[in-house]
Amino acid sequence: MTTNIRVKIREPRRHGGVPVVANAKELDDIPPDTYPPEIEYPNAYPPYWDFSNQRMYDLYVKSKREQWDEDQLDWGSFEKYMEDKAEVERVATAFWFSVLSNFDNAAAAFSRAVIAAQEYQFDAGTVGVFTTIVMDENRHCIMCGKAAYCALKGFPFRKPQSDLEEKARKYAWWVWWNGSRYWEAYKAAYDKYPLPIIFTSFLMGEAASTTVFGGASRNAKHATMAELFRNTARDEARHFTFTMFLFEDNKHVITDEIKKLVTKQIRAGFEFLSLITYKPLKTTKFWKLPRDFYDFFLKMDPIVQDVVGIPSLEFREEAWRKAVLKVGAFLSKFGVEMPEIPELGIDGREVRFEDEEMELAPPVF
Ligand SMILES: [Fe+2]
Ligand SMILES: [Fe+2]
Repeated sequence: MTTNIRVKIREPRRHGGVPVVANAKELDDIPPDTYPPEIEYPNAYPPYWDFSNQRMYDLYVKSKREQWDEDQLDWGSFEKYMEDKAEVERVATAFWFSVLSNFDNAAAAFSRAVIAAQEYQFDAGTVGVFTTIVMDENRHCIMCGKAAYCALKGFPFRKPQSDLEEKARKYAWWVWWNGSRYWEAYKAAYDKYPLPIIFTSFLMGEAASTTVFGGASRNAKHATMAELFRNTARDEARHFTFTMFLFEDNKHVITDEIKKLVTKQIRAGFEFLSLITYKPLKTTKFWKLPRDFYDFFLKMDPIVQDVVGIPSLEFREEAWRKAVLKVGAFLSKFGVEMPEIPELGIDGREVRFEDEEMELAPPVF
């Protein structure tokens, strides 16, 4: 890896004054009427009041305006609705929301991005939108927890009360364990890859989430779910716009080497996200799951379609294919090639993957 991870994305803001005291140790070392040393880049200082990115700032304003309160949803009525369901339906629903939370547990991921955006002195609009996504993702994670609670109180933390619940519990924890592997890779990515690569991972994540929530909001089987998915879909559509703006705004640092990494990033994102947008992939190099996870997932899936209203597998496959192609079409404008995704019938241009490259920064949404 020869790519410079400290690639200069924004010109550091300097006071440019003289004279400068290099490294003052004592108060007496500081002559009067001087400037401080220049701040070394990247650093979260100085505060950076750059309002020049108008469309991003507009998106920040929109993000604030579109905030909503997950506690205002009618959870009581959804809880009642779930109380009348069979055990297998309650288990399947709690399991699905636990799986969803693996991807919406993203407040920490975006908090890390806030730090990066500040250290690399992005404009006020970009930093501002990132901060609103931290709040959005926290809300999405909480709503997963509330929905799972309505279906099966305490799952997957409580002592299981049936064999089925125990199996679902084990597999929810397997998904989360993989999430923890993602988190380690994500944190390390900030020391390994230039920022635009990491930010591209958001592009795939947000494209994925618009398919999940867009489809679910139209099919929802209960009014609370309809509202939850509709609101979330609106958040995710905003996030998707944001990630496209972010990519465009930083195209000046997208070298050929970065383009190749982005191509791999798309494949990594596809593998990571398919578990929620589509189904567990047998072809994945990322996921480490028990051998019969696939069968268990496919057994639960139609039940969640009936009870919650997530779209059918066929719909998801087509929606996921379109979302991936949409990302591909967008990136092709910048000379980035698509990876091969035979699972969705996408040829791409042949790119070879080594196992360890699947540890790029898989996205959350
Ligand atoms: Fe989300
Ligand atoms: Fe998102």
